[in-house]
Amino acid sequence: MFKLAFIGTGGMARIHASCLMQNKKTEIVKCYDLNFSSACEFAAMFGGEACSDEQGIFLCDGVDAVYICTMHDSHEKYITDALRNNKNVFVEKPLALSFKSAERIIGVYEGAGRILKAGFNMRVTPSVTRFKQLLQENSVNADAFEAKITPPPFMSKWQGDRHLGGGVLACLGSHIFDFISYIMGTRIKEVNCSLRRVRQPEALMENSAVLMLRMENGVEGSVILNDMGIWGYHVSPSSKLQSMVVYSEQGTYSVEAYGDINYSRGSDFIIERIGPSSQYESWGYQNENNLFIDELSGKKTELCNVYNAAEAALVVDASKDSAMTGRWAAVDYSRVKGW
Ligand SMILES: NC(=O)c1ccc[n+]([C@@H]2O[C@H](COP(=O)([O-])OP(=O)(O)OC[C@H]3O[C@@H](n4cnc5c(N)ncnc54)[C@H](O)[C@@H]3O)[C@@H](O)[C@H]2O)c1
Repeated sequence: MFKLAFIGTGGMARIHASCLMQNKKTEIVKCYDLNFSSACEFAAMFGGEACSDEQGIFLCDGVDAVYICTMHDSHEKYITDALRNNKNVFVEKPLALSFKSAERIIGVYEGAGRILKAGFNMRVTPSVTRFKQLLQENSVNADAFEAKITPPPFMSKWQGDRHLGGGVLACLGSHIFDFISYIMGTRIKEVNCSLRRVRQPEALMENSAVLMLRMENGVEGSVILNDMGIWGYHVSPSSKLQSMVVYSEQGTYSVEAYGDINYSRGSDFIIERIGPSSQYESWGYQNENNLFIDELSGKKTELCNVYNAAEAALVVDASKDSAMTGRWAAVDYSRVKGW
């Protein structure tokens, strides 16, 4: 039985905890939140003890792994404190608000000998798993791609704050950069990014981005990110919130990350409906939690590792540079030499 603790007990923590309730190998033993009443409510729902500070978790020998589901400004501190106290870590995306912060995390990770996985759940949804398999089975050699994420508005809160959330590139960019590299099997080499505030106050960061990407293998693609989606069209019932299309000589392959897959084979047009299943299953959260427990049991999985998550932070930094200069920006992988 793995004993787990949560830091941050808001929306995502509750989704993970609900999924863990379905996994017989885990028990939630502690939680902590800046908002103590949220932690108490969480403990009442999922078990364990609400702590009045994070040391109650870090100093507890009985905790095997810590889930970090806080605002982005505290990810680095909690990850490194957890690793230094010999805890395994699952951190919600993004790993960090900058590549410099990711580098510091890696410095501690490499000396700790513990597991650290990042919550890029789109890697492990049932549709994406099938999509990746289809691309491999059909030896798809991409010519170009397009991708988008359009969730219902959420960046008018802490997510849009420069220090707490980091705006569209930290919230959605990190997600899509990891996803694209994972699907394409190659890293993002250069980026051209335009950022905008769409019905967003000046005091908050941009909540919309349009990007062109060039991969290391020369393939180019476009990306739209904004939080101007609406529940009825983008989220339910067919989950068009996040999608990707790959164009190739072998056919056109399209995936709704949480829904259907469409592709062509010769002159046939094929629709694969994945599901029906609960949102936690179709969005990959159930799988993600089961895989993290597999990792604790010594298995290797498709979950995002710290190096891939740091690369996503590097592409976020390059995108910011591009948005400032109005030019293509190279992603400087010399900074990750040796990984
Ligand atoms: N993978 C996904 O699909 C997905 C979706 C939404 C959010 N997220 C990520 O999950 C994480 C949490 O987001 P959320 O939607 O649950 O936010 P939320 O606002 O619902 O919950 C965050 C909780 O963390 C607490 N908190 C914030 N800073 C803290 C600190 N320094 N110490 C202790 N507690 C702190 C808050 O009081 C709050 O209860 C973020 O990293 C976010 O990007 C991922």
